[in-house]
Amino acid sequence: MNIEKIKRKKKIVMLTAYDYQTAKLLDEVGIDLILVGDSLGMVMLGYKDTKNVTMQEMIHHTKAVVRGAKNTPIIGDMPIHTYETVDDAVINAKKFMEAGVYGVKIEGNKPDIIKALLKEGIPVMGHLGLLPQTAEKYSIKGKEESEAKRIYEDALELDKLGVFSMVLECVPDNLAKKITENVKVPTIGIGAGKYCRGQVLVINDLLGMDDSFKPKHVKKYADLSKTIKNAVSKFKEEVLEGKFPDDEHTFH
Ligand code: KIV
Repeated sequence: MNIEKIKRKKKIVMLTAYDYQTAKLLDEVGIDLILVGDSLGMVMLGYKDTKNVTMQEMIHHTKAVVRGAKNTPIIGDMPIHTYETVDDAVINAKKFMEAGVYGVKIEGNKPDIIKALLKEGIPVMGHLGLLPQTAEKYSIKGKEESEAKRIYEDALELDKLGVFSMVLECVPDNLAKKITENVKVPTIGIGAGKYCRGQVLVINDLLGMDDSFKPKHVKKYADLSKTIKNAVSKFKEEVLEGKFPDDEHTFH
């Protein structure tokens, strides 16, 4: 499905992916967009936040996702320090485009950067509310009137600049509603309530890969940490007891 069709959809489904097999599964299920988020720093690489993710790491994972998802538009998340100047932003966004993405996502309201990318024909997804690359702590944004006003005004500006959609992360649902009703492009929420046009989650959170991670906005649709631990324990037990490999799994 092309992006213009996706933009007209009433509800948009986006998930992150960082590797070939997961991307292939998402592609087979059929979702609207795949984001190679810089959250990969935390869930794939074990960093404490997204502040150390590099361009090289992002491109490495993006290429794997592109190989897995043949039919789903993929968005590359520009990591911190890669779009501080217009020149850097264009050079780095082009690396994502060469890796096979549809467009790139950047955090915050950066008009000069967005204009430059669009001028180069690179579609841009915005990201407002909680901005993990610069946030001191992960908490809800836009509860106070002045902050809500700034986020709202930033959203109007991003819309005007020509982003093709925008992520709203960890904002109150009434603010997300007001933004969604007043911008032309789809809002895609994470911890932003039900009024956004789309929803995104980090795939590892949705699958329950980390049983100690329980933020309010995440719904676990599976308990893979338990499933994996059970499977590994069973393998361990069978190897120790000499039950694996059995005849069925042996070449004669
Ligand atoms: O990096 C990421 O996964 C993201 C989503 C949370 C939107 O930016």
